Amino acid sequence: MNTKNKKKLLLENLYAQYQNCTACPLGFQDRKNIVFGYGNSNALIMFIGEGPGKDEDEQGKPFVGRSGKLLTKILEPVGIKREDVFITNVVKCRPPQNRKPLSVESKTCKNLLLFKQINIIKPKIICTLGASALEALIEQPIKISQIRGTIIHHKTLTILPTYHPAYLLRNRKEIEKFISDMKKLKKLSL
Ligand code: URA
Repeated sequence: MNTKNKKKLLLENLYAQYQNCTACPLGFQDRKNIVFGYGNSNALIMFIGEGPGKDEDEQGKPFVGRSGKLLTKILEPVGIKREDVFITNVVKCRPPQNRKPLSVESKTCKNLLLFKQINIIKPKIICTLGASALEALIEQPIKISQIRGTIIHHKTLTILPTYHPAYLLRNRKEIEKFISDMKKLKKLSL
């Protein structure tokens, strides 16, 4: 079996193990689907967001709502195709009212799923979308406007943090900075 198929199988097994997960309080909300993540199991780039919203919960796929559509629209001209990357979130179940995941939720979910996904895929670079995804990985508070666009080496990970697309929907003037981060990301993945 080639590496790509092996990784795909490992991801499918991981998903099967947790598709009805109740390891943290989010498993007891009225979740429609766990949003495991989607994309190329052999991806060089892995995007990590905060947690699924309403559309994602309904469809079981990450970044399919308004912010996901903006993300896709920005990635295309930069030459990053969604089918080539892997996209997931720190928590796989929708927090009520789209609130920020609680620390117990992030901690549980990243240990059970996110770190295992990273270990399987072994992306060359991780792009975190928004402050809370980066904070979940490096376990310290950050200011996203100060750190975005800067490469961070943390343990074995190479991370390029940037804004969350939902923030760009509210702050259109920051889109240029996001585009420049995506160009950098593309270069780093080559
Ligand atoms: N926001 C996120 O952080 N993740 C999604 O999947 C959708 C919106």
